Amino acid sequence: MGFLNDIEPLKQTALTEFKNAADLAALEQTKGAWIGPNGKFTALMKQLGTLSKEEKPAAGKLINAAKVELEAALGACREALELKAALPKEPTDFTAPGRRRTLGKLHPLTQVTDDIVRAFRKIGFAVADGPEIEDEYHCFDALNTPADHPARDSQDTFYIATNAGAVSPSPGEAATAAMAGEGGRSSLLRTHTSSVQIRVMEKQPPPVRIIVPGRVYRRDNADATHNPTFHQIEGLYVDKNVTVGDLKGTVEFVFRELMGSDVKIRFRPHYFSYTEPSYEIDFTNALVKKMGKDWLEIAGCGMVHPQVFETVGYDPAVWTGWAFGFGIERIAMLRYGINDIRLFYENDVRFLKQF
Ligand code: DAH
Repeated sequence: MGFLNDIEPLKQTALTEFKNAADLAALEQTKGAWIGPNGKFTALMKQLGTLSKEEKPAAGKLINAAKVELEAALGACREALELKAALPKEPTDFTAPGRRRTLGKLHPLTQVTDDIVRAFRKIGFAVADGPEIEDEYHCFDALNTPADHPARDSQDTFYIATNAGAVSPSPGEAATAAMAGEGGRSSLLRTHTSSVQIRVMEKQPPPVRIIVPGRVYRRDNADATHNPTFHQIEGLYVDKNVTVGDLKGTVEFVFRELMGSDVKIRFRPHYFSYTEPSYEIDFTNALVKKMGKDWLEIAGCGMVHPQVFETVGYDPAVWTGWAFGFGIERIAMLRYGINDIRLFYENDVRFLKQF
């Protein structure tokens, strides 16, 4: 029975060693040394067999209680060590300054668009929107540009397959189909924001006073001044007794808001199938002069063609109006002195953060 007196001191030593284990690996090793198959405490339990039948129950109870205590202590030590392992090795300095996140900026094209919209809002224009995947009817036919019209050649675009396996007709085939009376309803990427004029007039009765900023597409090769995707702002004003004077005054107002009070604009006769008369707008200011130029072509415009009014169901004997469309990239390039349009689309932060 002598070994029973060893239980208490052995247990105390084991508890101390458990507590002193520096990490989880050390603890596992200590566990093995005591209650593993060849552990010191296990050896003690094996001696139980040497006791008489009468002595066994009391001795067994004693040993079991010690074992339970050791296992509980082991669990507690393990939990404490696990927590310690999860904590950062380096102490945290709560007084250190926080990590700053630099603020992003609006893209220069967005900034210019916002400024144009702001200028038009001042004089009562609302912003309208339309789909970039447009049908031929809204992009061309309704704008008095039927399928066989030569003006379509300068705005070739990307046609979209409308059902699986079937490729949309090329412009030429579409022209043939439309002339044969099959209607021009195939889908394409809109070549200008002018299509939204039609969509708005189809939905609301006159008067109309809208601008339409948006993305447009052409089958163009990219170079310093062209990109197959670019942005336009369309304007449409329909009311009674609207004149070219209103158009010129409005364009002048907006460009002065945008580019400064030294801006001069000039209207040059031009041709668009949806306006009559039609003009191109030339623009000049100190910046243009600095570029060694007298004028810079900036937009197309004119008085809405009576045929367009007929098409959307406005009475051309009652209603008059003007429309214009200009390229946002052009204005942004002029404003910021950017000489390559492709810079806008590369998303290089070193370029973008300058504006
Ligand atoms: N849609 C023309 C273009 O993309 C620009 C334009 C010209 C728009 C005359 C108009 C307009 O509304 O009246 O080149």
